Amino acid sequence: MGFTEKQEGLVKESWEVLKQDIPHFSLRFFSLILEIAPGAKNMFSFLRESEEIPQNNPKLKAHAVKVFKMTCESAIQLREKGEVVVADTTLKYLGTVHVKSGVKDPHFEVVKEALLRTIEEAIGEEKWNEEVKNAWGEAYDQLAEAIKAEMKNHH
Ligand code: HEM
Repeated sequence: MGFTEKQEGLVKESWEVLKQDIPHFSLRFFSLILEIAPGAKNMFSFLRESEEIPQNNPKLKAHAVKVFKMTCESAIQLREKGEVVVADTTLKYLGTVHVKSGVKDPHFEVVKEALLRTIEEAIGEEKWNEEVKNAWGEAYDQLAEAIKAEMKNHH
């Protein structure tokens, strides 16, 4: 069965919660990434430069928001078209930027885990369940596959 309207709704609903406090959830998202994979610190320009995770850093927020928002857009596309289509120029850019930063395929699993945990914290135990987890997970996986495939063209 394809991506359902209900799944799309669950993703959109939690994105609305994340949107209400981007500075906080961006910071949580990056703290979780580094908790899961401390080595990832050296890939991000804005993390390399400082001992601690910088508060209110625009680049940090930009990356977090891109991941949250593009995953949400993927959920909408999955329901509407049955597949994730990233605009060609965007995808090329994503391929280049990640290869240049030293990102490897396994990092996408780290970011997925951090994303899911951030959403769990944001919406709370009462709303968090397997259905929400799988809806975000599927939307993220398909987006990540598109980026990873593009990264193979940028060696
Ligand atoms: C840069 C999106 C996954 C590491 C970027 C940029 C975008 C982006 C749009 C360009 C800069 C910006 O606008 O912030 C995404 C999306 C992802 C994803 C949508 C997954 C669906 C990852 C993963 C890693 C990663 C898994 C590694 C853990 C980086 C790094 C940069 C970057 C190191 C350069 C940032 C800097 O140093 O300023 N990403 N990314 N990204 N991304 Fe990702």
